Amino acid sequence: MHLTVLLREATEALVTAPSGFYVDGTFGRGGHSRAVLDRLADDGQLLGVDKDPVAIDSARELAAADPRFTFYHGSFASLPLHLSELGCESVDGILVDLGVSSPQLDEAERGFSFLQDGPLDMRMDTSSGETAAEWLSRADEQDIAYALKEYGEERFAKRIAGAIVAARDTGSLTTTGQLAQVVKEANPRWEKHKHPATRAFQGIRIQVNRELGDLRDLLDSALDMLKVGGRLVVISFHSLEDRMVKRYMRDMARGEQLPPGVPVTDAALNRRMKLVGKAVKASEEELGENVRSRSAVMRVAEKIA
Ligand SMILES: C[S@@+](CC[C@H](N)C(=O)[O-])C[C@H]1O[C@@H](n2cnc3c(N)ncnc32)[C@H](O)[C@@H]1O
Repeated sequence: MHLTVLLREATEALVTAPSGFYVDGTFGRGGHSRAVLDRLADDGQLLGVDKDPVAIDSARELAAADPRFTFYHGSFASLPLHLSELGCESVDGILVDLGVSSPQLDEAERGFSFLQDGPLDMRMDTSSGETAAEWLSRADEQDIAYALKEYGEERFAKRIAGAIVAARDTGSLTTTGQLAQVVKEANPRWEKHKHPATRAFQGIRIQVNRELGDLRDLLDSALDMLKVGGRLVVISFHSLEDRMVKRYMRDMARGEQLPPGVPVTDAALNRRMKLVGKAVKASEEELGENVRSRSAVMRVAEKIA
């Protein structure tokens, strides 16, 4: 089961016009979507998006029960294209709750878990792209080390990447169990309360799903998609994602950066967004109910011009 993170906080921040058109870019099992629909009027609309074909079933059920809801199977990175196909020029709000869902992690067949043995897949979108096994079978050792270090924040990235390359060259790297074993043996210092393959799996998952690239694409197109007054709400679980979102929102809120002392009018600063509140973290109560909420950070910005 997936416990939706920052449910009230995110939907409250997102919906400012009950008759508006909103996007839930990471539908998952629809936790946020249902709460957004609860806030919308009869003429409001919500488009759910998810890369994962398994999300289609829950989305279909919701669409059958609520005519205000429609679904698109694909990446939120291709939202501008999809919205233009729908003839929708701009939207009142976009929410993304990044990362993987609990059902994806729990299902051994999906290949995300180091705790259960399954095919080494890790794709959120199982209908396209390279699996983790395919990527690991062809990637340079350096690129593997980069993903482990940058995306997994793994200290022993080089050493582990070397062990992965040695294992794949003997043809024994096609399951999550095999990968977890290789990483475990190569990892010289195990952190308390953390499986020794946690960081490596996270790094490879982010690489395989192009997670940071998709987020970059979303941020680059967000202003074009939002109406003035429309909000972008991002929940991230990884420091790199959060840093990207924080910088983007700060830059949009600050406008042009001119050398100190240069006289400038407000209009010339070209501020495009305003920050709505500070970064939000899960409450003590939520932390007690859902461990996944521990690393969640939500940031909200509103388009002003
Ligand atoms: C944390 S879960 C979202 C859970 C959802 N908010 C809920 O309450 O059920 C993240 C979901 O986003 C999807 N996802 C991740 N990156 C995506 C992307 N670039 N485009 C579309 N969906 C994406 C994943 O497949 C997963 O289902």
